[in-house]
Amino acid sequence: MKKLYLQTFGCQMNERDSQEVLDMLTAQGYSLAHEPEQADVILLNTCSVREHAEDRAYGNMGKLSEMKDTRPHIVLGIIGCMAKLHQGKIFKRLPRLDLVAGPAELYDLPYLLAEVQEKRQNVNWPDTRYTRVIAVGRTHRPLEQKPAVDTRTGGVRAFVSIMEGCDKACTYCIVPKTRGQEISRPPKEIIEEISRLASVGYQEVILLGQNVNSYGKRFPDGSGYKGPLGKLKLLQEAPDDLLDFPQLLRMIVRRTPMPRIRFTTSHPIDATERLFDVMAQNEPLCEWLHLPVQSGSNRILRAMRRGYTVEAYLEKIEALKKRVPDIALSTDIIVGFPGETDADFRATMELMRTVAYDTAYIFKYSPRPGTDAALREDDIPKEVKEERNQALLAVQEELTAASLGGRLGNEAEILVEERGNLPGQWFGRTRQNQGVIFESEDDWTGRLAQVSVERLAAHTLFGSLAPARV
Ligand code: 5AD
Ligand code: SF4
Repeated sequence: MKKLYLQTFGCQMNERDSQEVLDMLTAQGYSLAHEPEQADVILLNTCSVREHAEDRAYGNMGKLSEMKDTRPHIVLGIIGCMAKLHQGKIFKRLPRLDLVAGPAELYDLPYLLAEVQEKRQNVNWPDTRYTRVIAVGRTHRPLEQKPAVDTRTGGVRAFVSIMEGCDKACTYCIVPKTRGQEISRPPKEIIEEISRLASVGYQEVILLGQNVNSYGKRFPDGSGYKGPLGKLKLLQEAPDDLLDFPQLLRMIVRRTPMPRIRFTTSHPIDATERLFDVMAQNEPLCEWLHLPVQSGSNRILRAMRRGYTVEAYLEKIEALKKRVPDIALSTDIIVGFPGETDADFRATMELMRTVAYDTAYIFKYSPRPGTDAALREDDIPKEVKEERNQALLAVQEELTAASLGGRLGNEAEILVEERGNLPGQWFGRTRQNQGVIFESEDDWTGRLAQVSVERLAAHTLFGSLAPARV
C-alpha cells in the first residue's frame, strides 16, 4: 500500500482541501504516513498570503528533497496557492520536485500522480527534468467533479466548504489570483454533506469560503444571481427565489439537524442586515462572526480597495449587535500597509478598542507579486511593522482578557470537543467560540454541557458542571 505524507499551510480552506486530498487518495489505495520518511508521496498544500508562509514551504520541501538521495522513488509535490502563483518557477528553487498543482486542479491529483509514474517509466528517470508534471491552468475549480468520498467520522466539528475563489480585488491580496473566480457549491450537495456529518455524530459545522457572504453568485451550471446584489442588499425581504447566503443558512437550519453552525470568512461589504436577521432568528447559528476590518483608517481602507469606510463598518456592527447582543466578534488587521502613517495606525488601534473584538489576527504587510499594492513601495520599515504589530497584540490581549473575564460567574453551554490535558478534564467551546475546561468522570465528547465558569488562565476559562436543572 502506498503511503502519503501531507503537510498543510495557510487557512481553513486549505485544511479542508487537504482532507479532500486525503479522502481522494485513500480511495485510490493510499494510507496516511505520519512521518515523511515512511511516505511514497509527499505533498505540501501551500499558502501564498504572506512571504513567510512561502519561505517555510520552500524550506521544508528543500529538506524533504534530500530524502531522494536514499529513496529516489518518492514523489514530491507542491500543491495549492503557491503552485498557482509561482507555477514552473517553483522547479527552479526545488529542482528535485516532481509535481506542481494549483487549487483548481486538486481533483486531478490521482491522475497527476499517475502521470508522474508513467513519465518515469518512459525516460531516463531519476532525472526529474523529464518527469515533472505541472497543472495550474484552470480559472476555477470544477466543483461538479468534486469526489464523492468523505471519510470523516467520529469528530465533533467539521469544515464544510460552500464556495471557492474570490471576486474581490483587495489590493494587497493574492487570493483572487491563486484561487480564481468565485464559484458556489449547489445547496443540495451542501445539505447532503452536513446531513451526513450529523448522522456520523458531528455537532458543529464551520461553513467555509473566501467570502461566504457572496454565496450564490455563480453555480457550476452557470446559474446564480451573477453580479453584486445591488439594491437587493438593502431589502429585508428578498424575493423567495433568491438563493443567496442568508437563504442558504435558512435551508441548512431547516433541513439538517446540525446543532451548531458557524461560517467564515465574511467580507463586511456583503454582510447584510438580512444575514444578521437570519443569525438572530435561528438557534443553530452561533453568536460568532469573523468580520475582517483590515484597517481603522479610511485612507488606508481606500488604498486597500476594501469598499467601505470605518463609519460604514461600525454601522454594520451596530446593526448586528442590535439583533444579536451576545455576538462575539473577530477580525483580521494588516499593519504596515504602504503609506500607513502613525495617525493611520492610531486610528486602527482606536477602532479595535471601539469594537472591542473578542479575537483579532494581526498581520504584518507582505507585498505579494502581481497585486496592485505591490506596485507601491513597501515603505514601512520592518521594525515599525513589528512595533505596530506588538502594540496591537497588546491591545488585543487586553480586549480578549476582558471578554473572557466577562464570562466569569456565568453559566455557559459548552460543546465538548475532546479531553483536556489532565486526566478527567474536558475541553469544549461556548457558542462564542471561547475555550472552556471542566472536570468530570463521564465521557463528554460531542455532548453539550452546561458549565459554571469560574476561573481564567492563559486565555482558557475553567469551570464546573452546573447542577442539573429539573
Ligand atoms: N500581507 C499581510 N497580510 C495579508 N493578508 C492578506 N494578504 C496579506 C498581505 N499581503 C491577511 C488579511 C486577510 C488574512 C487572511 O491575511 O488580513 O484577512
Ligand atoms: Fe493562503 Fe489565501 Fe490560499 Fe488560504 S486562500 S491558502 S490564506 S493564499
